Amino acid sequence: MAERRSTSRGGLQGIDLHLDPAGPGLRRGLTDALREAVRSGRLAAGTRLPSSRSLAGDLGIARNTVADAYADLTAEGWLTARQGSGTRVADRAVPGPPSRPVSARRTPGRLPYSLIPGTPDLASFPRAGWLKATRRALAAAPHEALGYGDPRGLPELRTALAGYLARVRGVRADPERVVVCSGFAHGLKLLSEALRARGARTLAVEPYGLNVHWDLVTRAGLRTTPLPQDAAGTRTQDLGDADAVLLSPAHQFPLGGALRPERRAAVVDWARRGGGLILEDDYDGEFRYDRQAVGALQDIDPDHVVYLGTASKSLAPGLRLGWMVLPPWLVPDITTHSVSVVEQLTLAEFLTSGAYDRHVRAARLRYRRRRDALVRALAARAPDVRITGIAAGLHAVLELPPGTEQSVVQAAAWQGLAVHGLTFYRHPDTDTTQRDALVVGYGTPPDHAWAGALEALCRALP
Ligand SMILES: Cc1ncc(COP(=O)(O)O)c(C=O)c1O
Repeated sequence: MAERRSTSRGGLQGIDLHLDPAGPGLRRGLTDALREAVRSGRLAAGTRLPSSRSLAGDLGIARNTVADAYADLTAEGWLTARQGSGTRVADRAVPGPPSRPVSARRTPGRLPYSLIPGTPDLASFPRAGWLKATRRALAAAPHEALGYGDPRGLPELRTALAGYLARVRGVRADPERVVVCSGFAHGLKLLSEALRARGARTLAVEPYGLNVHWDLVTRAGLRTTPLPQDAAGTRTQDLGDADAVLLSPAHQFPLGGALRPERRAAVVDWARRGGGLILEDDYDGEFRYDRQAVGALQDIDPDHVVYLGTASKSLAPGLRLGWMVLPPWLVPDITTHSVSVVEQLTLAEFLTSGAYDRHVRAARLRYRRRRDALVRALAARAPDVRITGIAAGLHAVLELPPGTEQSVVQAAAWQGLAVHGLTFYRHPDTDTTQRDALVVGYGTPPDHAWAGALEALCRALP
């Protein structure tokens, strides 16, 4: 059996069947291997098997041997053979191991409502527009676009992003310095590794942020050190000897403020003085409601700032589409080949056709209405709860009376609502005074669940 090929590519039959017949006789070995494939659930009920001729050809054995094995398994009830529809796995074949449902992350306890930030309203993803863009982009793309191509990403997308980011976020973006990555998190991982390789040891971070991001920085070999904070926000004047800093200057996550001009100047000053690098997380920069959008920090000093953007808020996190604009000196350090060219072509088409702008404008209007409804509901139902961080983004912070955060999160769960307290986002090493608050991601529910989520929230508040 050793010389026989063990994989049958039953392409014409539409299945790709890996078999490893072993044992004393060919017929017996093949029968056992097929039976095991059915028993384990690897071959699902109803699956059509390759014809005996095709499988025999692929395995390099006599056709009769395969026909005999099929006949044995049909007699045992594992397979069915019917004129015209070939040989199939029988419906009543012993089920495989119970397939466990993939755990639904980010819906803890399967509560019916969620106001956990991080995900936009997924029901409003522009499915038709995205499909149209895919069709158009794929039809127009040259064959070469489907190759490995440039590790920074397709030139079409890098050019489209450079134009968009310059126009909308004030980023100084040359396509040569744009790198497409698989979401912000992936960009952060690549940058952390590159920094570590250059000898960096510490990445200063905001005292509140996302644990998953700090973890991946740590795994890349850097220590995250939280900056102090005062009433005016993160104290960027206290950066000291950190090698780099991660900030969300346009809309601090999760507290929601914009980094003040003097603190923007302070961090750029620090970077220039000591050669530090600023990582600018612009995760929801497009969603600003009350005034002119706060421009990207990168514009002040593109040599010391890496701008990171993502489609996770504007479109959907499942796309895993993100981008970085790097200082020229850092470009050779970052190599990736991480995003499907079909998604890249689609996003490029979505951007250049204006569909992205239209989608963001419509989404901004919808989220603004939700934010206004939230503010109105709180004023009427929980007037003692102060709401902050509402000028931008898809989440707000609800300040709670001291000592009540935990009980409000619990009360929300009893109302069927998943929501996070501010403590969830606190860096473990920060000495910032504990504040009791909820972080409310009003962008998260689909439209039909929004009213219910808001009602559950109001009932849970003190
Ligand atoms: C602060 C912050 N940065 C970045 C992101 C986007 O991450 P990614 O692009 O990896 O989905 C999010 C999304 O939840 C976020 O909250």
